[in-house]
Amino acid sequence: MYFKCAVVLSILIHGAWSATEQLKFPETFMFGAASAAYQIEGAWNESDKSPSMWDKLLHDRPEVVMDRSNGDVACDSYHLWRRDIEMLEELGMNMYRFSISWPRLLPTGFPNYISEDGKNYYNNLIDGLLEKGIQPMVTIYHFDLPQSLQDLGGWANPLITDWFADYANVVFSLYGDRVKYWITINEPMGMCDGGYGEFAAPYINDPYVGQYLCNKNTMVAHAKAYRIYDELYRDKYHGKLSISTLFFWFKPVEPEDQEITDLTIDLWASRYSHPIFSKEGGWPPKLERLLNENAKKQGYRYRLPPFTPEEIELVRGTYDYYALNHYTTRVVRRTKPGEKAGAWFFYGSPELNVRFDKDPRWRTTEIDWFAFYPEGLREQLNWLNTTYDVKEIIITENGIPTLNSGLVDIVRLDYYKEYLEQVLLAINDGINVTGYTAWTLMDNFEWLGGYVSNFGLYAVNFTHPNRTRTPRESARYFSKVTRSRMVHPNVDETKLNYVK
Ligand SMILES: *[C@@H]1O[C@H](CO)[C@@H](O)[C@H](O)[C@H]1NC(C)=O
Ligand SMILES: *[C@@H]1O[C@H](CO)[C@@H](O)[C@H](O)[C@H]1NC(C)=O
Ligand SMILES: *[C@@H]1O[C@H](CO)[C@@H](O)[C@H](O)[C@H]1NC(C)=O
Ligand SMILES: *[C@@H]1O[C@H](CO)[C@@H](O)[C@H](O)[C@H]1NC(C)=O
Ligand SMILES: *[C@@H]1O[C@H](CO)[C@@H](O)[C@H](O)[C@H]1NC(C)=O
Repeated sequence: MYFKCAVVLSILIHGAWSATEQLKFPETFMFGAASAAYQIEGAWNESDKSPSMWDKLLHDRPEVVMDRSNGDVACDSYHLWRRDIEMLEELGMNMYRFSISWPRLLPTGFPNYISEDGKNYYNNLIDGLLEKGIQPMVTIYHFDLPQSLQDLGGWANPLITDWFADYANVVFSLYGDRVKYWITINEPMGMCDGGYGEFAAPYINDPYVGQYLCNKNTMVAHAKAYRIYDELYRDKYHGKLSISTLFFWFKPVEPEDQEITDLTIDLWASRYSHPIFSKEGGWPPKLERLLNENAKKQGYRYRLPPFTPEEIELVRGTYDYYALNHYTTRVVRRTKPGEKAGAWFFYGSPELNVRFDKDPRWRTTEIDWFAFYPEGLREQLNWLNTTYDVKEIIITENGIPTLNSGLVDIVRLDYYKEYLEQVLLAINDGINVTGYTAWTLMDNFEWLGGYVSNFGLYAVNFTHPNRTRTPRESARYFSKVTRSRMVHPNVDETKLNYVK
């Protein structure tokens, strides 16, 4: 029912839907799936691995996770990585995005000691992927800081920019010969706004200081790693680097809400993109002014720690592509007099006196914060193309959570179909989107959501000792897309879905 409406709508908006029926992803377009070490590997204490800040948090405070679970075993990919590669083959994927666990590779946090087992694990995974013609895309850091570094202040300590650069240097030296796609840091907003807003480890409540120290330090850490790659590896290995940004798309409720919508985009995403991707570098200026005024009124020196001119230059331009993590869209408006701002992160911000939410007209799902607005992805890709001088965009996460871990996940199939269609339309607009890694390959440990909400193309049986993986309907659909390079891959199915 809904899907027909969406088709009618898309005819109205985009001209003829028959265009997308025939459009194909270019042969060079890379389809893939994504994952992250803590969410899938398990083996939290195997060999000489040291605990990460997530291990520590969840062993000390299991109650912060919805089902009191943790990533001790997760999908056990530390042992079952061969099956993971087999699934990527079943899906016809060209690429696999996974992350390296810092405390597994460097148990002390520093390059004084490299774990032999840690090193071999990622060597095996990378070689196994390449044997099957699957490009590894490696995230160097995806939330799992060695606890020993957290004890020294973690991402709030500016020295972490060197600690991270040294770690990245080890990673490049070990794997740079075979890995051509790099993400230095995954979703710094998740780790900074989340980590200092009690949404993630280190689970500290410090929204005025810690969050913004972390914000600045992630930008500088990323840049130092990028500069090391430039200096020591680029000429030999010719890889591409970026940082992945969690970026809901935002639209004004009414046209007069455009200005507050632009500020919301600054707060959500430009705070983590402007220093790197804009021509001038540094913090987004309007937001910087506003946040620092808020800070001064409260007796703080600033919210956004200033960059020195040298730091602005260090950070500016440290990208080879834009890595976008897109999930959903919000509509934005200012709070009315006497009304409270929406709760930070998913519904608003008291810093801007703003509320944002789903548009009531959009298709909702069983997950409260999540609604369908596929057109938002195309609008956002156009915005990125005009706002920054990016020559290439890779969608490094896109997917939908469900609560029911059954195999007939029509909502996920619909989501992929409708969102991939918008990617295709954006490519047709002339936006250079060259790859897409679905979040996620298989159900895994979803941070504070535990194993309750899942995003997997494959279902995982978390009570089975072998963590059996079974393809869902969405996986069957995806494997047709990768092989046909079309979003309406099967003639009969197309007829079924589109007749009248
Ligand atoms: C590793 O942790 C598990 C619990 O997840 C525990 O049963 C096991 O004894 C630990 N192994 C070592 C070597 O500490
Ligand atoms: C898109 O990006 C790819 C990879 O960098 C590049 O080879 C290609 O020339 C770009 N296409 C356009 C139209 O800019
Ligand atoms: C994308 O950006 C490039 C470079 O600024 C520009 O030439 C091109 O027209 C843009 N494409 C679209 C569809 O806006
Ligand atoms: C998961 O594994 C357990 C233990 O082997 C088994 O009893 C159960 O039937 C499995 N669940 C599903 C949905 O296959
Ligand atoms: C788990 O996998 C191993 C190796 O494939 C197999 O020998 C064993 O029977 C499986 N265990 C169960 C309970 O299915």
